[in-house]
Amino acid sequence: MYRSHDCGSLRASDINTEVTLAGWVQKSRDKGFMVWVDLRDRYGITQLIFDEERTDKKILEQAQNLGREFVIQVKGTVIERESKNDNMATGDIEILVKELNVLSESKTPPFTIEDKTDGGEELRMKYRYLDIRRNPVRENLIFRSKVAMEVRNFLAGKDFVEVETPVLIKSTPEGARDFVVPSRMNEGQFYALPQSPQTFKQLLMIGGMDKYFQIVKCFRDEDLRADRQPEFTQIDCEMSFVEQEDVLNIFEEMTRHLLKKVKNVEVAEFPRMTYNEAMEKYGNDKPDIRFGMEFGDLSAFAKARDFKIFNEAEIVVGIAVPGAGSYSRKEIDALVDWVKRPQVGALGMVYVKCNDDGSFKSSVDKFYNQDDLAKWAETTGAKPGDLICVLSGPAHKTRAQLSALRMELAERLDLRKADQFAPLWVVDFPLLEWDEESNRYHAMHHPFTSPKPEDIDKLSTDPGNVRANAYDLVLNGNEIGGGSVRIFDKKLQALMFEHLGFTEEEARAQFGFLMDAFEYGAPPHAGLAFGFDRLVAILGGQETIRDFIAFPKNNNGRDVMIDAPSKIDDVQLKELSLKVTV
Ligand code: AMO
Repeated sequence: MYRSHDCGSLRASDINTEVTLAGWVQKSRDKGFMVWVDLRDRYGITQLIFDEERTDKKILEQAQNLGREFVIQVKGTVIERESKNDNMATGDIEILVKELNVLSESKTPPFTIEDKTDGGEELRMKYRYLDIRRNPVRENLIFRSKVAMEVRNFLAGKDFVEVETPVLIKSTPEGARDFVVPSRMNEGQFYALPQSPQTFKQLLMIGGMDKYFQIVKCFRDEDLRADRQPEFTQIDCEMSFVEQEDVLNIFEEMTRHLLKKVKNVEVAEFPRMTYNEAMEKYGNDKPDIRFGMEFGDLSAFAKARDFKIFNEAEIVVGIAVPGAGSYSRKEIDALVDWVKRPQVGALGMVYVKCNDDGSFKSSVDKFYNQDDLAKWAETTGAKPGDLICVLSGPAHKTRAQLSALRMELAERLDLRKADQFAPLWVVDFPLLEWDEESNRYHAMHHPFTSPKPEDIDKLSTDPGNVRANAYDLVLNGNEIGGGSVRIFDKKLQALMFEHLGFTEEEARAQFGFLMDAFEYGAPPHAGLAFGFDRLVAILGGQETIRDFIAFPKNNNGRDVMIDAPSKIDDVQLKELSLKVTV
């Protein structure tokens, strides 16, 4: 038996018990005649004591030579500590050691195994197994496991069946680049790794599974950010004989269940907002509604004066920044510089200070009088003491810029509280989105998403304004899930392919298997997929998904620990009929 107890469980009530513990040496203090060692495992830390009077000399000597991160086993007696530590669960006791067994020695770790470590990101990733010994990383992984359990509990209780779908498949329709795998047995041919199990879950519905889910790895070769990894996990779900409303209701219930079970939070509101409304109010299809600062459209009255920049702009929009009316000239100039950064791309910013006495001071006083500015304040909801920030230009771009400013200011003003949860459904997404590069429309979600029946006629006349039965679940300004009602009528599917610029042959070559399946009685079906990493990170009060993934990739898509991707040898290349030209 390696241990009788773990390192987090012994208490004063265990005094005089003989125990065996095993774990890692967190740290030791050597006073010559006495040695203390903090022994750590997943469950906690227990203090060991060795002293001249009570410990065998040889064992004391052994204890004096223990290094950080050695793995040891000790036998001893639980005794009361002389100086108790209230910050530790085991702080009332210590183990008077009688036997010490070094199970495994350790080199000095390249960074400290402490909550706040001295190791930089790259080093921690290279030695991720050491990083995982640290409390914050370990706790994140345990938290992730707990959320997964709760997802399974909830969905199993609703009759969902977990089905595994293949990983070596054919290109999927999610719109990112595929990772491909060459086939040795089929010369010159490739599998694609799934960007999602989308087509398979639809086939499962045709197969009569009725309610499917899977916690599943997905692969997308796209640019990486804090909330994006090349391989990530979805809670993928699909249901038959349901409408959009049924899907929203069940996954709202699941989100509430998770918030309650893992955060003990009950959210009162679960609002719904159309895509258009989200864009107009927040300039963003995943608005963070934990705080206000909604957009005020000033176009109508801001354009009624002689200010050329506004008069020539498609839209003029502003936000009221709470309490920022006291910003100094220097602080405001810094804000203007911030919106002009290439990443944001505004040409400039007009501002209005709302003074405490109800008067206004603006950067455009030459063109607008106090009554004009009072209207701006009313439209943006600005109160005395606030600052109104106004941007103008082409509608889409300007809204995106103001949205970036809104998020930045919210961050600076500490309005994005990690322990506050504001979920939101964004519904009625456009079906199609214009792609400048290829000069044609693409499916905004994927080609199996059903248009709103009342908009189908617009497919040929006004394709950009056709709305889809598609929805996203947003939590604290992050898209944590998305889905749609699917097309199950083969004629409508053919029409969609046509509008997406697929010839019949192209559609057949890519999705023939699905089109064939639709010939054999497809039930109406709909579904959605949660981004599991994002969901876990946000429930954990953070936005960087890497911190909730055991072995993540860096921003260049590399795993620096195992050094992947890497070259393969010539024999392997030959077997796969591949030639590398770089
Ligand atoms: P979608 O492409 O919207 O939908 O993906 C669903 C959710 O997955 C998460 N996500 C990611 N998370 C981390 N890294 C990434 N690279 C990444 N890409 C996406 C997001 C997103 O909301 N098959 C459809 C779902 C459906 O229609 O049922 C799909 O994959 O949180």
